[in-house]
Amino acid sequence: MFTPEMLESVKKVEATREARMSAEPRRMSAQEKDDLLKAFHPDYREEAFEEIKIGPNRGQKAPKELVHLLHSNSRLLHEEIDLDKIDYDVDVLVIGGGGAGASAAIEAHEAGADVMIVTKLRIGDANTMMAEGGIQAADKENDSPVQHYLDAFGGGHFAARPELLKKLVMEAPDAILWLNQLGVMFDKDADGNMVTTHGGGTSRKRMHACKDYSGAEIMRTLRDEVLNRQIPVVEFTSAVELILDDRGQAAGAVLLNMETDDYLVARAKTVVIATGGAGRMHYQGFPTSNHYGATADGLVLGYRAGAPLLYQDTIQYHPTGVAYPSQIYGALVTEKVRSLGAQLVNAEGEAFMHPLETRDVAAAAIIRECMERGKGVTTPIGMMETPSPGGSAAECAADEKNAAHLGGTGVWLDTPMIEQIGGAGTIEKRIPAMLRMYLNYGIDMRKLPILVYPTLHYQNGGLEIGGDGFTKVIPNLLAAGEAVGGIHGRNRLMGNSLLDVIVFGRDAGKAAAAKAKEVETGRLTLEHIQKYAEELQAAGADTGDVSPLLLPKYARHM
Ligand code: FUM
Repeated sequence: MFTPEMLESVKKVEATREARMSAEPRRMSAQEKDDLLKAFHPDYREEAFEEIKIGPNRGQKAPKELVHLLHSNSRLLHEEIDLDKIDYDVDVLVIGGGGAGASAAIEAHEAGADVMIVTKLRIGDANTMMAEGGIQAADKENDSPVQHYLDAFGGGHFAARPELLKKLVMEAPDAILWLNQLGVMFDKDADGNMVTTHGGGTSRKRMHACKDYSGAEIMRTLRDEVLNRQIPVVEFTSAVELILDDRGQAAGAVLLNMETDDYLVARAKTVVIATGGAGRMHYQGFPTSNHYGATADGLVLGYRAGAPLLYQDTIQYHPTGVAYPSQIYGALVTEKVRSLGAQLVNAEGEAFMHPLETRDVAAAAIIRECMERGKGVTTPIGMMETPSPGGSAAECAADEKNAAHLGGTGVWLDTPMIEQIGGAGTIEKRIPAMLRMYLNYGIDMRKLPILVYPTLHYQNGGLEIGGDGFTKVIPNLLAAGEAVGGIHGRNRLMGNSLLDVIVFGRDAGKAAAAKAKEVETGRLTLEHIQKYAEELQAAGADTGDVSPLLLPKYARHM
């Protein structure tokens, strides 16, 4: 439960609630947003970024923890891998068992390809499973893909690759139909129409949801489909290096059995990287809403083989991570809480921003409230030691501005408003996962507000792909899902990630299967590993570590 000091602040929230309910907070101007982002968004903290010294993005910046991985060598550098001993031989190798990987595998299988999924944890251990609020699609009469495009393009600071964003919004309605037919139990009204809501930055209600278990329900359905089709899934096995052939084409991957530590060779005609995000890198010491395996593996695999990254310097901090209690620190509080009417309120009971600004703006506004204005609510959570590969959290917290990311403060999300606006029972009906999560710790969000602070949520950047889903430079290598950069630009709107894993996952599966029919694989080679090592050496950048990370630093194994 809350401390006496927190309860004093709750009284102020309650005292202003009536007035706040009748006066909606104003929207910020474009200039105000720009100024706010520059001053308070973590992407603008220059000291948190470093220059990449080798490879296709040489000279560009990335979070220093990611640079650390890019400046590390393959764990196979000094291993003898017999590439003539093929353990798996398939048309399409999908690396990653989340929403994008499963969608790719299903479509590749549908197209007749011999497809296999390899995943370092279990199928479904992925950020897709963790997604709560919903999936966007412009499929209502008052909406259109054009409207969806404009919302997402503006929300991403006009940086999205037009061909990718166009594909996302145009194929969205079909993605919903596909999921619905596979058996996803979307929220529907008594007439069978989809119930849709707003998200931050949306001009229409186009968020389709399964209460606040949207990702879990979608992943459940995709996993069932993969298993029903008897697509081989190799679990607890990491891809640790891409294999190329002597023509420079992607030709498979070296896999590491995480239980036996044995290396295995998977040969494939096409390879789809669908390894997901990077929350467990804990950039800048932030906690994360991500699943345990989110360690940017695909970016490292692709980059070492020569595939360029795009927007690797931009990260999404979800505005509303749990700030209290400590047991669920950093966990996601879905944006749907704000879609249903809850306002962000400071310690004095003031609504300091419109609750449905885009995520980067909302996160920056919360950080400003706590850091500059001194209007955050102090929690009993002390400085938490959240390890990061590029430096300990204590090092990251050396300056005062960063310290707050590591616990100790937050703002209120005034959840009782939801019951007042939507009627008693709305919270239980629409966001039961949230209700249950907080009730576990004695906090009834129907009666009390909850405390939130930004949490590391999404990697806006990733491998650069074309509209056909293929990465740049390396033939036969595709990428889909959160491992891709450029679909959303420099900030993503809620619900467009569940959408992109389906749209780009499906398309990657179809394209990989079609391409596999015409590919002739040459002699397998890992020569790029040695070349990379030499470049690192020449640049004086070798960290002495190995990458990809595979599991967070605090994992017991590895
Ligand atoms: O807030 C949420 O439910 C998260 C959704 C998303 O990242 O798209």
